[in-house]
Amino acid sequence: MLKAVIILAAGQGTRMRSSLPKILHPLGGKAMVHHVIDAVAPLAPEKTIVILSSAIDPEVVAHERQLEIAIQDQALGTGDAVAKALPLLQGQDGDVLILCGDTPLIEAETLQLLINARQQTGPEDILMLAMTLADPHHYGRLVVDGGVVNKIVENKDASPEEKEIRLCNAGIYMVPLAYLHRLLPKLTKANAAGEYYITDIIALAAEAGIKTRYVEGLAHQTLQGINNRVELACAERELQQRWRAQMLLAGVTMVDPETVYLCHDTKVGQDTVIHPHVCFGPNVTIGAHAIVFPYCQLSDCEIGDFAKVGPFAHLRGHAVLQRYAEVGNFVEVKNSLFAEKAKAKHLSYIGDAHVGEGANIGAGTITCNYNGFEKFKTTIAAGAFIGSNSALVAPVVIGEGAIVAAGSVITRDVPKDALAVSRTSQENKIDWAKAFRKKKLN
Ligand code: UD1
Ligand code: CA
Repeated sequence: MLKAVIILAAGQGTRMRSSLPKILHPLGGKAMVHHVIDAVAPLAPEKTIVILSSAIDPEVVAHERQLEIAIQDQALGTGDAVAKALPLLQGQDGDVLILCGDTPLIEAETLQLLINARQQTGPEDILMLAMTLADPHHYGRLVVDGGVVNKIVENKDASPEEKEIRLCNAGIYMVPLAYLHRLLPKLTKANAAGEYYITDIIALAAEAGIKTRYVEGLAHQTLQGINNRVELACAERELQQRWRAQMLLAGVTMVDPETVYLCHDTKVGQDTVIHPHVCFGPNVTIGAHAIVFPYCQLSDCEIGDFAKVGPFAHLRGHAVLQRYAEVGNFVEVKNSLFAEKAKAKHLSYIGDAHVGEGANIGAGTITCNYNGFEKFKTTIAAGAFIGSNSALVAPVVIGEGAIVAAGSVITRDVPKDALAVSRTSQENKIDWAKAFRKKKLN
């Protein structure tokens, strides 16, 4: 039974060189720490405790998730951080899974390896996840004897021989709660960093006759810790590759997957085609058989089956395209609905609008929705036709089947089936140009 998960997220993250705390840096549109929190959820622990520094707003981390927060005022080390969770676990027993908030690529199936190993070992061992790396870099090394870990040596404290060890600590441990109560008070700061290391409980456990066993992770990429922006960029690439592969296998075509940037919650239906250089922000759902042409930026939008978007389109702020709707090049759509088969194919801004079924919006149409203080709505009813280069000054309603003449500035409602013309009428001066040229050339 998994009593609790403890996620360590109170470190300073100095190597990020950022005013944003490390664990809040986003990957695929979601904070690093939320990737870890979401990966442990399928294990259904009784409690998930996140250790935060007082510089982080607990609401930002807890947001809509079932969590308990403990505060570590000073970053005195990972061992001290774990100790901050103990008051929330007084008088309880069972296993505690400890993870780092800076290991966002972790997947539930890798954590499941520890749960499975527990069933084989019985309740008395400490279990941890390890990885063998060609270049162990800054990771702690496992000093192992006959499958039992005697101690973990931090890179900073390792002897030249210990630095040769390739078996590394992934920073994920499963420890019976009673051992934490017993061993954490024994940690000291006698090490190169002058910190209380959680890793030192392994040697303390060994002295007390408690064995630590390790399980090698499924893929070392999923266990990578992120300490600087180079590692952050590598993790983003890794995550994008994972999500793209999932999407391709689910029946979405990507012409050049490497150039498509997905968000953690992007949903795309079967047989939809995504052309190169499309970026997804949060909250995008695309139906089946749709086409997204190159160079589109999509966020907070819903694109229906058989709809077409782009090239060079920008959908955001609750944009909805229903089935067969089309939004073409250099069209921005914000907080607007395009009903079935409605179209805006070229050079438009459509904001705070309802575009009825089959309506056609000509090139260069702008909904003038904002007076500098307030936003107003434009309604374009079904079957209406908006001539090119029209400005629709909201609030305004274009009636069903109405036509707006090209170049009009529409400030009043247009009745159903009417033609609205709002521009100076044209005058043709016969032979004026010819006379003008003659005068100038003489
Ligand atoms: C840690 C391990 C190392 C392991 C590596 C795996 C220790 C001493 N070392 O090193 O053996 O190979 O992770 O990625 O544990 N944190 C706190 N409070 C603190 C310090 C850190 O909450 O006072 C949190 C950080 O926010 C971070 C996590 O603990 O999420 C790990 O801390 P970090 O400083 O990144 O440890 P590493 O040096 O990477
Ligand atoms: Ca780290």
